[in-house]
Amino acid sequence: TNIILLGPPGAGKGTQARKLVEERGMVQLSTGDMLREAKTSGTEMGRRVAEVMDRGQLVTDEIVIGLIEEKLNTVQASGFIFDGFPRTLAQADALGELLAKNGQTLDAVIEMRVDDAALVARITGRYTCGNCGEVYHDETKPTKVAGVCDVCGSHDMKRRADDNEDSLKTRLMEYYKKTSPLIGYYYHARKLFTVDGLAEIDAVAAAVAAILDGKA
Ligand code: AP5
Ligand code: ZN
Repeated sequence: TNIILLGPPGAGKGTQARKLVEERGMVQLSTGDMLREAKTSGTEMGRRVAEVMDRGQLVTDEIVIGLIEEKLNTVQASGFIFDGFPRTLAQADALGELLAKNGQTLDAVIEMRVDDAALVARITGRYTCGNCGEVYHDETKPTKVAGVCDVCGSHDMKRRADDNEDSLKTRLMEYYKKTSPLIGYYYHARKLFTVDGLAEIDAVAAAVAAILDGKA
């Protein structure tokens, strides 16, 4: 089963993707994570994307499609979770072609619906384990022991450079302008499902699971 998690910054895509990896053994393909990795690699591409990302703008289609293509050609999985990709109509077309080329299909696009007011609180309270990637929040999902990852015990907690109100404003504008048209695109392709992203993390997970089980 291959699915897309679609939603604005802070909707909870990464949080739900990690649960699916844990519970169903699916493979998460997050272009945001791949780009953040490229950022720290010290390569020319890394330097170019860092600036764009930190401002909150979208990286070029060419770069992200290339990253996804490489993964699809090298990683074997019973199911992929596309997290933060596609984000433009051109990326959606490219994904359709790449999957078809590998004899695969796209089974569901899950739109996580949240309102803007909630996103500021989600984004400004977020921190992540630098070792295992677990995602936390100051209020809604703090670590059990302050500064120590529940999952792996690491003390390496990180906040993202683009998790400030200014960059978030740009990220939201980019989302409404370039990414939200994908909702109509996948609706017409009869692949769209919507969940209430404002519900508690476990309730959202249950709604996502119900969609996947209906597809299995
Ligand atoms: P990316 O890394 O994809 O970031 P994003 O889309 O802005 O999404 P986030 O990671 O911010 O949010 P999320 O939905 O995963 O929420 P999370 O689960 O962490 O992209 C970053 C940048 O990279 C882009 O701006 C762009 O520059 C570039 N980029 C990436 N992909 C690209 C592409 N395809 N094309 C071009 N450019 C690309 O949750 C957020 C917080 O809320 C956490 O603290 C979490 O604990 C908490 N939370 C989650 N769910 C709940 C809940 N149900 N209730 C309460 N709290 C919750
Ligand atoms: Zn950890």
